[in-house]
Amino acid sequence: MKGALQAASEFFESSPKSKAKFISPDITKPVRYDCSNDGLSKSRSLLKHYAHPLDEWIHFWPQEPPSYREKMGKYAVEIRRVALDILDAIFQSLGLHQAYIREKLEQGMQFLAVNSYPQSTKPGVTVGLAPHSDYGFITLILPSCPGLEVMEHHTKSWKTVLQPSDAIHVHVGDHLEVLSNGIFRTLVHRAVLHSEKNRVSVASIHGFPMDEKVKSAGELVDEEHPKLYRESSFKDFLDFLLSRRNNNESYIESLRISTI
Ligand code: OGA
Ligand code: NI
Repeated sequence: MKGALQAASEFFESSPKSKAKFISPDITKPVRYDCSNDGLSKSRSLLKHYAHPLDEWIHFWPQEPPSYREKMGKYAVEIRRVALDILDAIFQSLGLHQAYIREKLEQGMQFLAVNSYPQSTKPGVTVGLAPHSDYGFITLILPSCPGLEVMEHHTKSWKTVLQPSDAIHVHVGDHLEVLSNGIFRTLVHRAVLHSEKNRVSVASIHGFPMDEKVKSAGELVDEEHPKLYRESSFKDFLDFLLSRRNNNESYIESLRISTI
């Protein structure tokens, strides 16, 4: 975990030229660096890259700092193991068939969102990453210091998440809401700027393979519990992001089936 945070910090401190190599308007690129202000990123630099299977992607990753691939690669493999264990427990709690889901998860995708936020004491400049929910089943977030806030489902108010040292946050994502037919609810969250320090975080997002449609599990749908969401894949999510430019609808809202 320390190695991953160190690799993240050193990447953002590396020369503008070595980071610029990864800038691309194409959101389907396996590695992408983005320091633009796009509405979601208010004040954040982002390095996003695919991570599983590692052999397939690691040779696209940054080589600056020189230890980046080794440190982030080690973290990616270990955090995926933790994520799959947590998902196993979640699926078991829902009474879902383990074998089918395990198989899809084994081939499933993982990507890392490596974030950097500047320190800020400017009045009015407090949010680094605007409110959103994550695609995928779960996201595991490793931050260097406090700054994460989550929206409570009932009160719709922001809660600061405590940050004991060496703790990882686990977030429910949009596709777990779909798969569980609404039993698990996606988590809206944001990142605020720290008044004294720059902050980095490594978010690891886990889901089914890119073209695999996620739908509400058959075991959880019956006459009393109608299907609440349309099925969709990671590819569909990217298409949604590309088509959304002009309105604020969230991905999960776009999947909801009206029951009235
Ligand atoms: C994300 C995210 C929060 C943070 O990358 O999707 O929500 O604390 N990050 O950086
Ligand atoms: Ni997020």
